[in-house]
Amino acid sequence: MKLEKISEGKAALYVSKGAKISKELEVFYNPAKEFDRDLSVLLVKAAKKKTVLDLLAASGARGIRLAKEAGCKVTFNEVSKDAVKVLKKNLKINKLKSKVYNLDANRFLAQSYDKFDFIDIDPFGSPINFVFNSIKRLDKNGILAVTATDTAPLYGVYKYTCMKKYGSVPYHTKISHEFGLRILAKAVIELAAKWNVSLTPIFAHATQHYYRIYFQHRRSHADELMKQIGFIHFCEKCKARFSSGFNFQQSCGCGGKLQSAGPLYLGSLWNEELVKQMESEQIKVFGRTKYHNFLAVLMEESRINIPYYFEIMEFAKIEPRTDAVIKKLNEIGFLVSRTHFSDKGIRTNASISKLRELFDKA
Ligand SMILES: C[S@@+](CC[C@H](N)C(=O)[O-])C[C@H]1O[C@@H](n2cnc3c(N)ncnc32)[C@H](O)[C@@H]1O
Ligand SMILES: [Zn+2]
Repeated sequence: MKLEKISEGKAALYVSKGAKISKELEVFYNPAKEFDRDLSVLLVKAAKKKTVLDLLAASGARGIRLAKEAGCKVTFNEVSKDAVKVLKKNLKINKLKSKVYNLDANRFLAQSYDKFDFIDIDPFGSPINFVFNSIKRLDKNGILAVTATDTAPLYGVYKYTCMKKYGSVPYHTKISHEFGLRILAKAVIELAAKWNVSLTPIFAHATQHYYRIYFQHRRSHADELMKQIGFIHFCEKCKARFSSGFNFQQSCGCGGKLQSAGPLYLGSLWNEELVKQMESEQIKVFGRTKYHNFLAVLMEESRINIPYYFEIMEFAKIEPRTDAVIKKLNEIGFLVSRTHFSDKGIRTNASISKLRELFDKA
């Protein structure tokens, strides 16, 4: 196995040399996910979590960073023998002593008696098959983090794959990444509810390639979460969108046919206090406010509990600047924020007809 030594954050890492990113890699490492690992370091520090399970560890990149940058005690698990060899080498060069298991993740979870206050599920594809067993290993008030790289089913390209994996019907349109993220949230919440545990989303982000959600464990609030599961409806004719619980009307006011995505989670995906705390941890972790702009957008999103956004070109004839749209809606008294899903998108309680009236796309 040809290896090269790289560094990420405060970790030194051996990874497969000059390799094309694919799941065929002997030791999977994707430099593009540094952003995601950076955020997990910030979040774990902000939430003061100390005992970590890196369940699908590969080179150990995430767990090693959490040990070195957030002072955590990390347990590693990884099914590939080759990857475990490299992971152990990586622990050595980072002067870390940790427990390392070489098991299928579900086997590890089923046979372990340990509890963790942060569990990370970062697989190839869907995380869903590892969630149910993880819940039992999560400490009271612990955080479960899941990554899904199977975004195409979740945002509606492969409807039946989404139905099989997540028990929801997706819908493919411009704003579907948010639907996909909320379907993933619902699926995890639902599995935890079977243990009568509530897993409340506290931080989430989406890119084209992966979705990531962090959930906070609480006992017996599962009923409250169930009330926030429903549908988002989208009218293909007038582009109206709205959410509902399980009883919903079948047609739009304009007479157009409604398409629906769901069931999905309609509640907030961000805890404002946590995002603030992450903002203030940046200097300590990176020596600079590396994610100030990104966290500022999430902070805005956390304050407006509307489970969808609008692309500006859906309602404006000539594309105005996003900040000009926000200013105008604010002045009139609508709730409005930017969204990390799209820099040309806004989250607002204004209706599509009001937006068209204001921005001239009659
Ligand atoms: C996307 S990589 C993990 C990346 C790593 N967390 C990082 O930040 O670099 C997924 C890893 O899961 C491992 N894996 C796949 N199926 C597994 C299973 N059933 N149990 C344990 N590990 C598994 C793969 O060998 C691979 O190393
Ligand atoms: Zn309509």
